[in-house]
Amino acid sequence: MRVLITGGAGFIGSSLVHSLAAARHDVGVIDDLSTGKLENLHPAAWFRRLDILDPALTEAIAEFAPESVVHLAAQADVQSSIADPDRDRAVNVDGTRAVALAAVAAGATRVISASSAAVYGEPAELPLRETSPKAPANPYGISKLAAETAIAEVLAGTGTDHASFRFSNVYGPRQDWRGEGGVVAIFAAALAAGERPRIYGSGRQTRDFIYVGDIVAAIVGALDSTHPLAGPLPDGSSYNISTGVQRQVEEVAGILRAASRVMKEFEHVPARAGDIERSALDPSKARDSFGWTARQPLEDGLAITWRWFEHALR
Ligand SMILES: NC(=O)c1ccc[n+]([C@@H]2O[C@H](COP(=O)([O-])OP(=O)(O)OC[C@H]3O[C@@H](n4cnc5c(N)ncnc54)[C@H](O)[C@@H]3O)[C@@H](O)[C@H]2O)c1
Repeated sequence: MRVLITGGAGFIGSSLVHSLAAARHDVGVIDDLSTGKLENLHPAAWFRRLDILDPALTEAIAEFAPESVVHLAAQADVQSSIADPDRDRAVNVDGTRAVALAAVAAGATRVISASSAAVYGEPAELPLRETSPKAPANPYGISKLAAETAIAEVLAGTGTDHASFRFSNVYGPRQDWRGEGGVVAIFAAALAAGERPRIYGSGRQTRDFIYVGDIVAAIVGALDSTHPLAGPLPDGSSYNISTGVQRQVEEVAGILRAASRVMKEFEHVPARAGDIERSALDPSKARDSFGWTARQPLEDGLAITWRWFEHALR
C-alpha cells in the first residue's frame, strides 16, 4: 500500500507509521510538528513539514500520490479548543475539508479520518452507538462532528471511499503526558517521576480505554477492506473504534501503580466541570463492516505503556 498520513509525527500517527513501514508499505507523512515530534518519525517515511491549512497541501499530497490517506492531524486538545475555538474549527473542519479535497485531486481511493467520542458529549445511552444522540460539550467535539460532515460532503460522488473513526480513550507508548494528555500517560509520567498521580473526582468515573495498537489494527483493517466504508449522512460513514467496555479511572491508576511498583497514594482532587461520568462506545459496526475488534487486554496494554514511560522518563 501507499499511504499518506497527516499527523504522522503524533502519538497515534507515529504508531501507524511505524507499523506500516515495518510491513514495508510506502508511507508519507504531513505534519506541522505543532504537537508531534521529529523523533517519532520512521526513517523510511517520506516527510513534509506542513500545516494542513497551507495552500501547498494539494501539491504535497499529489507529489506523494497515495492510494489512501489517513487523516489524523488535528487540534486535539479540549482546553485549547475552549481558549481558541476559531483555530480549533479552522484546523479540524477547514483542514479536514482541505485534506479530503487534496486526496481526491491526488487520485486517492480511500480516506480515513480521525473523529472522537467527544462528538457524543454526555452519553444519552450506554454503550454509545454511532446513531446515538450527539451533544458535544466543547468546541473540540463540535469541530470533530462538523469534520465528519465536511469529509462526507467533499467526497460524496467522487469515487473516493471514506470513513470517520470515533476513537474512544486511546493510550499507549509515545502519548504526550504534558498539558492535557491522556489520563494513562499522565498517571504513568507521574509514577515515573516518583510523584503522586492525581485523580479528579471519585475515580469511579469510567472510560472506554483502547490500546494504540488496536487503533492501528483498525486503520490497517479498514485500508485493506474490499467493501466500501462510506454510507449516507449523518452517521453512515462513522465507526466507533473502541472496546465497548467501561473501566474505572481509579482501576486504571491501580493497575499502572502495580506495574510500576511505585506505591504512592493517589491524590484526590475535585472533579473538573464538564467531565463525563461514564463512557463506552459500542464497536460492533466496525466488526461487522471490516472484521475488526480490539484485542489488547487492558492490563497488558498498560504494562507495555508503563515500560515505555519508565524508559523514556526515568
Ligand atoms: N488520543 C486520543 O485519545 C484520541 C481520542 C479521540 C480522537 N483522537 C484523534 O486522533 C487524532 C490523533 O491524535 P493524537 O492523540 O495522536 O494527537 P497528537 O497531538 O499526538 O497528534 C496530532 C498530530 O497532528 C499534527 N498537527 C496538528 N495540527 C496540524 C496542522 N494544522 N497541520 C499539520 N499537522 C498538524 C501534530 O503536530 C501532531 O503530530 C486526532 O485527530 C485526535 O483528535 C485522539
